[in-house]
Amino acid sequence: MNHFLDIHKTDPAALRGIIDSAAKMKAARSGRNRGAPDDDQPLAGQMVALIFEKPSTRTRVSFDVGVRQMGGQTMLLSGQEMQLGHGETIADTARVLSRYVDLIMIRTFDESVLIEMADYADVPVINGLTDRTHPCQIMADILTFEEHRGPIKGKKVVWSGDGNNVCASLLHAAGQFGFDLTFTGPAQLDPEAEFIGFARDAGVRVSIERDPHKAVEGADLVVTDTWVSMHDSQSAKERRHNMLRPYQVNKALMSAAKPDALFMHCLPAHREEEVTSEVMDGPHSVVFDEAENRLHAQKAVMRWCLGV
Ligand code: CP
Ligand code: NVA
Repeated sequence: MNHFLDIHKTDPAALRGIIDSAAKMKAARSGRNRGAPDDDQPLAGQMVALIFEKPSTRTRVSFDVGVRQMGGQTMLLSGQEMQLGHGETIADTARVLSRYVDLIMIRTFDESVLIEMADYADVPVINGLTDRTHPCQIMADILTFEEHRGPIKGKKVVWSGDGNNVCASLLHAAGQFGFDLTFTGPAQLDPEAEFIGFARDAGVRVSIERDPHKAVEGADLVVTDTWVSMHDSQSAKERRHNMLRPYQVNKALMSAAKPDALFMHCLPAHREEEVTSEVMDGPHSVVFDEAENRLHAQKAVMRWCLGV
């Protein structure tokens, strides 16, 4: 069963195939209306359940549109409206959904929900973000980097800020796609040691540098994300802001990177917090290409899951 649970759990050749297939599908749509169907309709007759236990704009819309472009149908489900949110077990939910749908995408809190869903489902399950990782985002980011700058292998990527779920998937991608990653942020918010270990074991350089200006020297790509994620307690907001303020991506920081460095952010952004508008809307930024590429990358992920 081809579940897409995480980048480090997916075969590197499959990951490369997904990126190539996404690029091909994107190219084939050039010049078409956004709503136009793809010619080959690989998901014709297939039903995809999209389960959200947390808010979403990009993931929700890009999966829904992607399925429709490929000729399939979607069912949007919110955790709270399902019996899942009222005591039915994840295992039973997975077994029941598998009798109705061909593919399940879930955005949830604890990673154990995703894993249990995959363990008990008879259909592929896709991780649409957990507290711990966000693999679909990083597949879109790899596609985005490569369409602007060519192969990411051997490049230097810098993450500035909170070592969160998106950073975790970027570390996995460093190992699988072969690029170096420097993390710059406060020690309390370092990425998980297990994920750093995964990338290092794969043979890439992972550095931790507390000085953000030193960290970005020679960077081909600078990435950040919100200082307070959906699973973080709001009461920690002020403390996090105080710790993370030195890691804001602003014009001064970007000018310490390579002159042609790209800037990425998974969005939603909190302008003037983790990133200034000057950078978001400036010449280095490819944030809206990243958002668009969620669509193309996830279409390729779904095709790989379904083998179509
Ligand atoms: N980047 C991302 O996953 O955005 P949403 O939370 O809007 O889905
Ligand atoms: N780190 C953020 C990503 C949102 C797409 C969160 O988990 O809230």
